Amino acid sequence: MIILGLETTCDETGIALHDAAAGLLAHRLFSQVKLHAEYGGVVPELASRDHIRRILPLVEQTLAEAELQPCDIDGVAYARGPGLAGALLAGAAVAKGLAWALDRPVLGVHHMEAHLLAPMLEADPPAFPFLALLVSGGHTLLVEVAGVGRYHVLGESLDDAAGEAFDKTAKLLGLPYPGGPALEKLAAVGEPGRWVFPRPMVDRPGLDFSFSGLKTAVVNAVHNTTLDEAARAAIARAFQDAVVDTFAIKVKRALVQTGLKRLVVAGGVGANTVLRERLQAVAGAAGGRAYYPRLAFCTDNGAMIAYAGQQRLSMGEQDVGEVEVRPRWPL
Ligand code: KG4
Ligand code: ZN
Repeated sequence: MIILGLETTCDETGIALHDAAAGLLAHRLFSQVKLHAEYGGVVPELASRDHIRRILPLVEQTLAEAELQPCDIDGVAYARGPGLAGALLAGAAVAKGLAWALDRPVLGVHHMEAHLLAPMLEADPPAFPFLALLVSGGHTLLVEVAGVGRYHVLGESLDDAAGEAFDKTAKLLGLPYPGGPALEKLAAVGEPGRWVFPRPMVDRPGLDFSFSGLKTAVVNAVHNTTLDEAARAAIARAFQDAVVDTFAIKVKRALVQTGLKRLVVAGGVGANTVLRERLQAVAGAAGGRAYYPRLAFCTDNGAMIAYAGQQRLSMGEQDVGEVEVRPRWPL
C-alpha cells in the first residue's frame, strides 16, 4: 500500500511516498525559511500562500523520483493539526482533492503523532512501548507510548515550548530566524559557566516543564552586560546547558517512573546534537537506549506524515464526510 503524505502545518512544505512493504520511496521538502527570515518569524498569511504554490509541483517531483504515477497512490494522508489554520487548509484541500480525483481514502493525521513515530522510518526502529520526548517549536511533551494511537501524556510545558525558548533566546542574541540551529552553533564556542541559568521546575516532583523563567534569566543577562561576541556565545551556552540539563533530569525521572528502557526524541529541538548526546547517555545509564529520527526528519517533513498515515489508513481509518483542520489539537 503506497501512501502519499503532505505536511503543511507551519513553514515547510513536505511531501513523501511511503510503501507498507518497501518503506520510504521518496520525499521532498521546500522550506520557507528565507521567505519569513526578514520578519524574524513565520508570517501565517505568507506561509499559506507559499504552500499553495509549492504543493503540487513537489507532489509531481516526489512521484517522479519514485517513478510512480498518481494512480499508483493507494491513500493520501495530510497533517490536520496542530498548526497554522491557513497552512493546514492548504494541505488538507490538496489532499482531499487528490483523494477524490483518484477515488482513494484520505486521512488527516496528528502532526505530533507523526513526529513521535518518525524514528520508525530508520533502519533500527524502536519497539513499543517507549518513552517519547517531543520537543518542537510549538510543543514540549513527555509521552508514554504503548503503540500507535496509545499515548499517555506524562508531562508538558506549562508556558513556552522548548523550540520557542530557543527561538526567543536566539532573537535576544541577535541571531537570525529560525533560532535553534544558529543558537546551537554559537553555544559551541561559548565559555561554559560564565553564566548559570535556572533549571526550571527540576526541584518539584512531576514531569511538567516551564521555560518562561529561563527566558527572563536570559533577558536579564543580556541587559546587564556588554553584549560582545564572547558574551553572546557564553549566554547561548548557558541557555543550552540549562535546557539540556532540564531535559536530562526529567527524562531520567520519567524512565524511572515508567520502567521504560527505550527513549524516542523527536521534533525540531531533537536535532540539537548536544541534547541528543546527553539523552543517549541518560537512556544508557538507565539500561536502555535512545532512538532518533535522522536529522532531516527531526524538523517538519512529509515522510513522517506518510508513515503515520500508513499506520492509520492500514487500520481502516479514514476521513468521512467534511472533516475540518484542527489548529489546536491535543495529542
Ligand atoms: O518540529 P519543528 O520543525 O516544527 C514544529 O513543529 O514546531 O521544530 C522547529 C523548532 C524551532 O523552534 C527551531 O528553532 C528548533 O525546532 N530547532 C532547534 C534546532 N533545530 C531546530 N533547536 C535547537 N537546536 C537545534 N539544532
Ligand atoms: Zn513539527
